[in-house]
Amino acid sequence: MKPPRKLHIKSYGCQMNVYDAQRMVDTLAPEGFIETDSAEDADLVILNTCHIREKASEKVYSELGRLRVAKDEAARNGRAMRIAVAGCVAQAEGEEIIRRAPTVDVVVGPQSYHHLPQLLARAKSEGRALETEFPVEDKFGFLPQPKPAAIRARGISAFVTVQEGCDKFCTFCVVPYTRGAEVSRPVAKIVDDVKRLADNGVREITLIGQNVNAYHGEGPDGRTWPLGKLLHRLAEIEGIARLRYSTSHPRDVEETLIAAHRDLGALMPFVHLPVQSGSDRILAAMNRKHTADDYRRVIDRFRTARQDVAFSSDFIVGFPGETEGEFAATLALVMQIGYAAAYSFKYSPRPGTPAADMWETVSAAEMDERLVRLQELIDTQQSAFNRAMIGETVDVLFERAARNPGQIVGRTAYLQPAHVFASPDIIGQVLPVTIESLERYSLLGELAGGVAQPAPTLPQLTGA
Ligand code: 5AD
Ligand code: SF4
Repeated sequence: MKPPRKLHIKSYGCQMNVYDAQRMVDTLAPEGFIETDSAEDADLVILNTCHIREKASEKVYSELGRLRVAKDEAARNGRAMRIAVAGCVAQAEGEEIIRRAPTVDVVVGPQSYHHLPQLLARAKSEGRALETEFPVEDKFGFLPQPKPAAIRARGISAFVTVQEGCDKFCTFCVVPYTRGAEVSRPVAKIVDDVKRLADNGVREITLIGQNVNAYHGEGPDGRTWPLGKLLHRLAEIEGIARLRYSTSHPRDVEETLIAAHRDLGALMPFVHLPVQSGSDRILAAMNRKHTADDYRRVIDRFRTARQDVAFSSDFIVGFPGETEGEFAATLALVMQIGYAAAYSFKYSPRPGTPAADMWETVSAAEMDERLVRLQELIDTQQSAFNRAMIGETVDVLFERAARNPGQIVGRTAYLQPAHVFASPDIIGQVLPVTIESLERYSLLGELAGGVAQPAPTLPQLTGA
C-alpha cells in the first residue's frame, strides 16, 4: 500500500476538462493520491488547462508563478511539492512550458493521462522535468485518435464521454488542433459505462463531446448509430432517470435526435446549441457553415417536437471586422429565440487558427461595450425564465445536502439549482417541487405533498 499523498487539481474550461480531472484522480488513486481543496498543502498540483479563450497560456504562467512560491515554501518545510500541467495548453505548448517555467515537473497532454503515474515516477528518478511524447500529427494535421476511458461513479450525476475532437474548423477555434479529429466510442462501451454508473447509484448521465451530436459510434448491429439512437438505448437502462448531452453543433441536428426529444421522457428539454453570431456574414467568416435562419429552423424543429424545450448558447462578440449592424443582428437573434441561459465571450485570437490572421479588428472599447449589451439582454432573459418557475410545480432530481443546514439541493430539468427543507433520504430521487421564490440563480421550494415519495418508475420507452 502506497503512503497517502495529497492531490490538488485546478481545472479550467469545458466539461471535458471536468471529466478529464476525474480521470486523473482515478488514475492516481492507486498511487495513494487523495484529493485536497488546497494547492498549498498538496504533494502534487495539476493545472488542467484550457486553451480556448483569452490569453490562456499567460494565465497558466502566472498561476505557475504563484505555485513556485508555494513549492519553495514547502521545500523549506522539508516537503516536496510536484507540479504538473495538463490539458490543452500542455498539448499546444509542450516542452516550451518546461523551458519557461522550470518549477514544472511534468507536462501531459489529454491523450496521455493514463501515463501520469509513470511520468511522475520517471521525472522523480531522473531528477528532471518531463513531458509526454506528444502525438505526431498525420498528413491531414490530425492527432492520433484518443482512447477515452470510462468514468467511476460519484454522486447522482455523471459525465460520460461519447465523442472527442472536432472536424468543423470554425476559424476562431483551437479545438480541432488541440483535441484532434472527431472520434466516437462504440455504443456497447457507453452502454457498459452507463450500466455501471447506474449500479452505483447514478441517476443522471450527461453525454459529453466537443461536438457531441456529430456522434457516429459503432452500434451492436455493426451499423453506425447517431446520437438520437444512442439516447434511445441509454434511456432503457434501469435507474437512469435523466439524460443530457453537450455540446451540440446546429449543423448536426439530425432527425433521430429530434425524435429522441419527442419520445424520451428521460431526455431533458434543455439544449446547449451555440450559434456564436446572428450575422450571416460573420457566420460565414467563422466557417460555421450555417446561416442565422438555418439556426432558427433548427430551434423550431426542437420546439415542434417538445414544446417545453429551452436553449442555451455561446456567443462571440468582436469577431474580426464585426460591424455595429452585424452585432445588432446577434441581439435580434437573441431577442427572437429567447434563451434560458447563455455564455458570451470577447473574441480573442488563438495562434494557429485562420481568424488569427484576419487583419480587421474591433477596438477593445467596442468589444467591451458589445459584451455588456449582450450580457444585459441575456441576463434579462435568464431572470425572466427563472422567475417564471415561481408558483410552478416542477420535477427536481435531488443531489446532495445544501450548505444551509436542513436543506437538500437538486436541479430542475433546466439545470436550475432548487433547494427544499427535507430529509437526506430524498437524495437520488426525482420529486415534484412547488417553487416559492428565487434567490439570484437558485430556486427555493417545497416538496409537493410535503413528503418524500419513492423514486418514480420510468415510462417504458420505445427504441429508435
Ligand atoms: N475567442 C472567443 N471565444 C471563443 N470560443 C472559442 N474560441 C474562441 C475565441 N478564439 C468560445 C465559443 C465556443 C466556446 C466554448 O468558447 O463561443 O462555443
Ligand atoms: Fe470549435 Fe467549431 Fe468544433 Fe465547436 S464546432 S469545437 S467552436 S471548431
